[in-house]
Amino acid sequence: MTAPDVEATPQPLVDVDQERHARFRTSFEAVTDFGRRLLAARLAAAGVLPAPGAVAGREEILARLAVAPGYQRLGDALLDLLADAGLLRWQGDGLAVTGRVAEAAGFAEDDAVDAAAATLRREHPEAAGYVPLLVACQTQLVEVVRGDRPANEVLFPGGSADLVSAIYRDNVQLDFYNRLCAARVREHVRQFLRRYPRSYAHVMEVGAGTGGTSGPVLDALTDRTERLRYFYTDVGPAFLRLGRQRFGVDRPHVDFARYNVEGAPEDQGFEPGSMDVVLASNVLHATLRISAALRHCHALLKPGGILVVNEMTSRLDYNTLTFGLAEGWWRHAEDEPRVPASPLLDVAGWRAALGRAGFVDVRAHAVPGLDAADQVQTMFVATATGGGGASR
Ligand SMILES: C[S@@+](CC[C@H](N)C(=O)[O-])C[C@H]1O[C@@H](n2cnc3c(N)ncnc32)[C@H](O)[C@@H]1O
Repeated sequence: MTAPDVEATPQPLVDVDQERHARFRTSFEAVTDFGRRLLAARLAAAGVLPAPGAVAGREEILARLAVAPGYQRLGDALLDLLADAGLLRWQGDGLAVTGRVAEAAGFAEDDAVDAAAATLRREHPEAAGYVPLLVACQTQLVEVVRGDRPANEVLFPGGSADLVSAIYRDNVQLDFYNRLCAARVREHVRQFLRRYPRSYAHVMEVGAGTGGTSGPVLDALTDRTERLRYFYTDVGPAFLRLGRQRFGVDRPHVDFARYNVEGAPEDQGFEPGSMDVVLASNVLHATLRISAALRHCHALLKPGGILVVNEMTSRLDYNTLTFGLAEGWWRHAEDEPRVPASPLLDVAGWRAALGRAGFVDVRAHAVPGLDAADQVQTMFVATATGGGGASR
C-alpha cells in the first residue's frame, strides 16, 4: 500500500464553499459538452467526419482534416474525445457519426453558436468565464490545426490575454488552489523569518504568466515585505511586462526576470541553493521534460526549502478543446510519462517525479470533501534535500 494519493487539505488553512463548488462542476460539464458538440458540428460542416451511415478509418478522417505537423497529437485526441462522448462510435476499425452529430448541426452557423453561448452563460454563471475561450477555439479550430491560423491569434487575439484571463475571474476552483498556494508560501516564509530573524526570505515564482497565482500569493505576504525578495519570472518577456504593470508599482520587494525552467539556474543568473520557496503554478506540464524542470527547481532551493507545484492532474476535454490548440500543449518528449492525450501527470506521476528529482516529504492537497476520482487539480508541496547538486 502506497501513501494516500491526496491528503486532506489542512483546515482551516483554506476552505471551500462546497455547494458553490458542486454548482461549478455541473456548470463546467455543461460548458464542456457544448464544446464537444461544437467540435463535431464544425468538423462535420468541414466535410471531415463521415457522412451519416458511412464509416471512415482514423487515418482517413485525419487526412481529411489535413492536420499540420505539430497537431498530430491533437487530431488523435479530438477523435478519441468525440468517441468517448458518444458523438462518434467505433464500427469495426472505423468510426461513424451518431445521431448526436445531426442534433448539433446548427452549430455550424456562428449565430446559433452565439445564441447557445449566451444561454449557457446565463444558465451557468459559475463557469461562464470558460465559454468565450471555448467558442473562439472551436469556431477557428479547423483553420488552426491546418496551420492556416496561428493558435496565439485565437487564444490571445490582438495580443490580449482577456479570453484566457476570463477563466480565472471569480472561479471557485482556481481561486481555491490559488489561496492554497498563497497559504502554503506564507506559512513557509513566516516560519523561515521567525527562525532566521536577520535574514531575508527568497521566493521565486516560475512561469508566473499573467499573475493569476502571483496576485493572491503577493497579497498573502503583504505583512512580510520588509524581509522578503520575490522573483517574478517567466520564459516569455511579454508576461514580464504584464507582471511589471500589474505588480511592479509600490512593491520594491518584487523583481522581474526572465527564467526558463528548462535550463539550469546558474546559466540564467540565478544562484543554485538560494531560494526558500519555488512556486510553479500551471507551468511545469508545459515543459519538454518535467524531470529536468524539477531538477532545476530543486537546484534553486536551499536544503529544507519547499517547492509548491499547482497542476491539473486529470485530463479534461475542456483543456483539449482550448489549450490543446497551442502547439506547446503537445511539445513534451515522446518518452515522457504523461496522462494519455495530454501533457499532464497524475498524482502518482508527480509523486514519483518529485521523488526522483530529490524531493522528500511530498504532500498532495486537493478540494476537501471530493472523491479522489473527481479531483482534477492538485497542489503539491515538496521539500528539497541538502547538497544542492548538479541541476542538469
Ligand atoms: C498556463 S500559464 C500559467 C500562468 C500562471 N502561473 C497562473 O497560474 O496563472 C503558463 C505559463 O508558463 C510559462 N512557461 C511555459 N514554459 C515555461 C518554461 N519553460 N519556463 C518558464 N515559464 C514557462 C508561460 O509563458 C506561461 O506564462
